[in-house]
Amino acid sequence: MMSRFANIADLHRAARRKLPPFLMDYIDGGSFAEETLGRNTRDFQTLSLRQRVLRDVSNIDMSTAFFGTPASMPLVLAPLGLAGMNARRGEVQAFRAATEAGVPFSLSTLSVCPLAEVCEASSAAPWLQLYMIKDRGFMRDFLAEGSRRGLSVLLLTVDLAVPGTRYRDHRSGLSRPATFATQMRRIYETVTHPHWAWDVGLKGRPHVLGNIAPIVGEQSTLAAFWGWVAKNFDPAVTWDDIAWVRENWPGRLVLKGILDSDDAARAAALGMDGVVVSNHGGRQLDGAPSTITALPAIVAAIEGRATILLDGGVRTGVDLFRALACGAQGVLVGRPWAWALAAGGQAGVARMLEIFSAEFGVAMALTGCASISEIDCSTLSDTSSDRTSN
Ligand SMILES: Cc1cc2nc3c(=O)[nH]c(=O)nc-3n(C[C@H](O)[C@H](O)[C@H](O)COP(=O)(O)O)c2cc1C
Repeated sequence: MMSRFANIADLHRAARRKLPPFLMDYIDGGSFAEETLGRNTRDFQTLSLRQRVLRDVSNIDMSTAFFGTPASMPLVLAPLGLAGMNARRGEVQAFRAATEAGVPFSLSTLSVCPLAEVCEASSAAPWLQLYMIKDRGFMRDFLAEGSRRGLSVLLLTVDLAVPGTRYRDHRSGLSRPATFATQMRRIYETVTHPHWAWDVGLKGRPHVLGNIAPIVGEQSTLAAFWGWVAKNFDPAVTWDDIAWVRENWPGRLVLKGILDSDDAARAAALGMDGVVVSNHGGRQLDGAPSTITALPAIVAAIEGRATILLDGGVRTGVDLFRALACGAQGVLVGRPWAWALAAGGQAGVARMLEIFSAEFGVAMALTGCASISEIDCSTLSDTSSDRTSN
């Protein structure tokens, strides 16, 4: 049934039909004029690949390993706050799909399903995402719980010192105190999307931010979300605080939200296990470069000292190939799995992963690469190599 979705754009269209507009705006939106959001996807398309022929590509091996754990392809589900609002107990469904497909799933601090519920859904361990928040006691306890449950990879998100201004969320009422008008509109949008109202609104309870519920209280997810972010994220955090995280996290530590080569060099010098080249999917500093254009300078700055992952705008297996050709060891995808989850729950996310895998396999075969170790800057055509020398 899910095979009717040919590509990620189909999943996007299906999500738009299923989800109430205020949620779709939250997922799709970027900050300010959404310039960086647009660049993330557009800039991939400026990279041309070399079409190579008459090579034996009868056995394509796209398997890899992240931090010592095997993965079926170099792709990870990015942490997404509120994903549990896209389908009933959404993070659990997506985690199951990812585990079955053999790729890592990252759980956001701001998920609907708490860490305990997600961990019970599979024998695999998700990656954990954490923001630097003012309540260090909460952070310490959350890290200790993750470690106790056998998690070994922490994505520490560092690009949200203050939340980027997202006009779509302002208009929908998500990022400001609810008014009578916004409440009425939300009710209207809910009743006009009866599948979602039934699946998530009624059957997907409780609608709380599972991990932070103990400190936020049992307010509704949407009511708690932006207010909590604005009050609790710590804008005073500096590089010195990374040592505190290190002390409290015995596993692999990956900084998510590196976009500048000086920051990348500093992360490597501090002994980070990895970085995610990310501008938060164009949701933070509008006007910042796309991640794919920022990547080559970061690869040069890291000098092989840490794993380099990239996210932002990856919409096809060809984009995944391009990111690897520019020096990343893997990509994270964000919005595509939010759309897939809304479109078809666990089966929708499974279909999304099938699509990425099939497209990536074709890109590898037609560039003459039988394994991912063969994907490097030599697979890019001269028309794009001036931007990507690595
Ligand atoms: C709806 C949504 C929620 C997000 N929530 C988080 C989050 O809780 N933590 C985090 O580190 N990044 C979060 N991000 C950023 C993603 O992890 C990722 O960096 C971004 O989505 C990648 O871009 P893409 O959506 O174009 O693939 C969120 C992004 C979206 C779209």
